[in-house]
Amino acid sequence: MKLLVVGKGGREHALVKALAESPGKPEVFCFPGSDAIFETAKPIAADGLESLVAWMKANSIDLCVAGEESYLVKGPGLANLCARHGIPCWGPPKESARLEASKEFAKQFLVRNNIPTARATATDTLEEALAAIAGEYPTVLKYDGLAAGKGVAVCPDETSALTFLDEVFTQRRFGAGRVLVEQCLSGPEVSVFAAIIDDQYLVFTPARDYKRARDGDLGPNTGGMGAVASRRLVSQDVMARIEQEIVRPTVAGLRKEGLPYRGFLYFGLMLTPHGPQVIEYNCRFGDPECQAVMPLVKGDLATFCLAGANGELRSDLITFDDGWSVCVILASAGYPESSRNGDLITGLENTGDFRVYHAGTRKKTDGTWETHGGRVLAVVSGGITRQEAVAKAHTAADLIRFDGLQRRRDIGILNFD
Ligand code: AMP
Ligand code: GLY
Repeated sequence: MKLLVVGKGGREHALVKALAESPGKPEVFCFPGSDAIFETAKPIAADGLESLVAWMKANSIDLCVAGEESYLVKGPGLANLCARHGIPCWGPPKESARLEASKEFAKQFLVRNNIPTARATATDTLEEALAAIAGEYPTVLKYDGLAAGKGVAVCPDETSALTFLDEVFTQRRFGAGRVLVEQCLSGPEVSVFAAIIDDQYLVFTPARDYKRARDGDLGPNTGGMGAVASRRLVSQDVMARIEQEIVRPTVAGLRKEGLPYRGFLYFGLMLTPHGPQVIEYNCRFGDPECQAVMPLVKGDLATFCLAGANGELRSDLITFDDGWSVCVILASAGYPESSRNGDLITGLENTGDFRVYHAGTRKKTDGTWETHGGRVLAVVSGGITRQEAVAKAHTAADLIRFDGLQRRRDIGILNFD
């Protein structure tokens, strides 16, 4: 089997590894990839979506796996182009990927399908937004488009709301777009992933990510400073409710509304006192949740995705480890406001019962690695208990160093017990 993964971050490194380790030993390619990914997958020469799909066609690629969302929604859409060329794609077409690309579209979909979610109003101007907030704080403001995880502000007061609204409407930090004013929910968050294949689905191991930069959930929001995954993260009762009240109606809604879907769907949920509610959909796996979840997936992920892309749910091909997995992100100096490239990374030669995925690194000509991005590495380990996984992941993370390294010490610990 020849397959190609699209993306370049830590999530894609984890996907590439999991797919390459599948029993059939598929030949894995990646675009645009990274130096670390190219230790496992082969690079390809393409300079955009059209040439990428033309390359897949010319090289008889059996399966395209979408890692990151941008390719699914930009231009003609990765899955749409694959479909046009008869290439099976694990990842939804553009129309369905709007569930992630437009928060307003997602909100309307949720409401139409009676799926529990926070109340929201779409606004076009600062004045309209303030009117919708109506003095009720805390409030949640969301830029209606892709903003790399930075388009959401939970505002405790009017000053913080005005700062965000000024960034969106006056400074146009994310480009043109509306703002959703949303009711502020509370409760633990959980990321639930399902492989969706038309009217069927399989729920993967749930996870929780840590979005704030510093210990104790302090500091600015980031793309994610770590994650913890386990079947036992969510009780069976709550998981049953999530399936019944959220996953099933979502799958049914996609069918009813003529939105084709074959790929991973990520449900960002809040477990409120009134039950689980949807905060967001993403039309791909989470990052860094993927790095925590993939080591728990056993079996033949490559054939599972290929069968899925061809419309068949092969639940028999994979199982999920019953234990815990913890992923600690090592970020570069300045992250998340900026990032510093070129710091030498040491300790990568260490091996043990852990995995290291590269999110933002570059290999130098002398074979050493340097930082090349905000989130640099993901160190992942597992255990039968959460405590064991936590201890192993943090001990492994201690082995790696670079100037300016930032990491959290409470990944897998905070928000438990
Ligand atoms: P999102 O980009 O939609 O995942 O939002 C980022 C983060 O903002 C979420 O993980 C939550 O912590 C928070 N958030 C989003 N929506 C709400 C809400 N309605 N109530 C409370 N917190 C929220
Ligand atoms: N971990 C959050 C995300 O992937 O969007």
